[in-house]
Amino acid sequence: MERATARIDHEAVSANCARLKAELGEAELCAVVKADGYGHGADGCAGAALAGGATRLAVATAGEAEQVGRRFQHVPLLTMGALTAEEADTVLSAGSELAVWEEGFRRLVADRARAHGHPARVHVKHDSGMGRLGNRSPDEVLELARACALDPDLELAGIWTHFATADELDSDYFEEQLERFEKVAAVVKDQHPGVLVHAANSAAVLRDRRAHFDMARCGVAIYGLDPFQRDPAEQGLRPALTLRSYIASVKRFPAGATAGYGRKWTAPVDTWVGVIPLGYGDGVRRALTNNAEVLVGGRRYPLVGTVSMDNVTIDLGAETAVEPGDEAVLIGAQGEERILAEEVAARLETINYEVTCAISSRVPRRPA
Ligand SMILES: Cc1ncc(COP(=O)(O)O)c(C=O)c1O
Repeated sequence: MERATARIDHEAVSANCARLKAELGEAELCAVVKADGYGHGADGCAGAALAGGATRLAVATAGEAEQVGRRFQHVPLLTMGALTAEEADTVLSAGSELAVWEEGFRRLVADRARAHGHPARVHVKHDSGMGRLGNRSPDEVLELARACALDPDLELAGIWTHFATADELDSDYFEEQLERFEKVAAVVKDQHPGVLVHAANSAAVLRDRRAHFDMARCGVAIYGLDPFQRDPAEQGLRPALTLRSYIASVKRFPAGATAGYGRKWTAPVDTWVGVIPLGYGDGVRRALTNNAEVLVGGRRYPLVGTVSMDNVTIDLGAETAVEPGDEAVLIGAQGEERILAEEVAARLETINYEVTCAISSRVPRRPA
């Protein structure tokens, strides 16, 4: 019995990668393990992803590159995010490839690479419509790619983009972005045949083969989370995370008694209430106050009252067999019942990504 744990099913991560790899065929699978593997633990999940067929890894920040690069020295790693000069140094020391989309930063990376004594492998990013990182101008992208290829301190490793609406199946914008990127990528590939072309995230892999190119960067699906916010089973994905705690106390509430800060719940009739010792300090969001269910003994019970930093309460009903020490599951399966991260996300009007990323460092991640 532990106060709060996230059990991570690494076999599920491997199986999800094998599922994506089957979809990708010849194209490589790059497992995105940023934000500590979307809250699942980066190291364990990266290892499981590689066992399932991923051949590359990606992170967002310099700190993540250091951590993952140290552990997986012989696996190509891409740091996807924006970097300060100091962070670029860290990323190069970690042996990671990095993203460029402006001439100034390209020169900076070349300078730093010279100081490091070996060429930096760079991926030129085209902003084909995400409107975030990347260069919007196809001409500048082509010019940057040429400059990288000619610079002895750089190796042109990739040309890439990122989709804004791959998860919105009724949106035509995905096609627009794809067409824009295809044109630029074709010219780059023609001029630099060894370059790796990549665009797809999880949703794009599952949605459209034309987006696969040479490699896909998949995050959410490798953890068994559905990129379309539906049941992951529909895509043949297995959720990898279970968030567990236990019943610390069971107490009788007479009708009219209230639970938690602000008295946001009043027992309508005499009932039993179970106290579970985890809360928003663990990443169980306060907006789940009176708005969630918890599994105990394979049954759903409503979370009642305010989610506090270290505790939540559930209504066990007028008669209960639940006892202190019983396991409580906030995300995951218990018996025949399960609570998906997608369900929690819908209650919070957010996406599954945010639900698992929010699980705080106070919760140890342990192999299932
Ligand atoms: C640039 C980039 N590529 C790929 C991914 C992976 O996306 P997903 O988790 O939807 O597969 C992300 C994640 O946000 C990203 O920022």
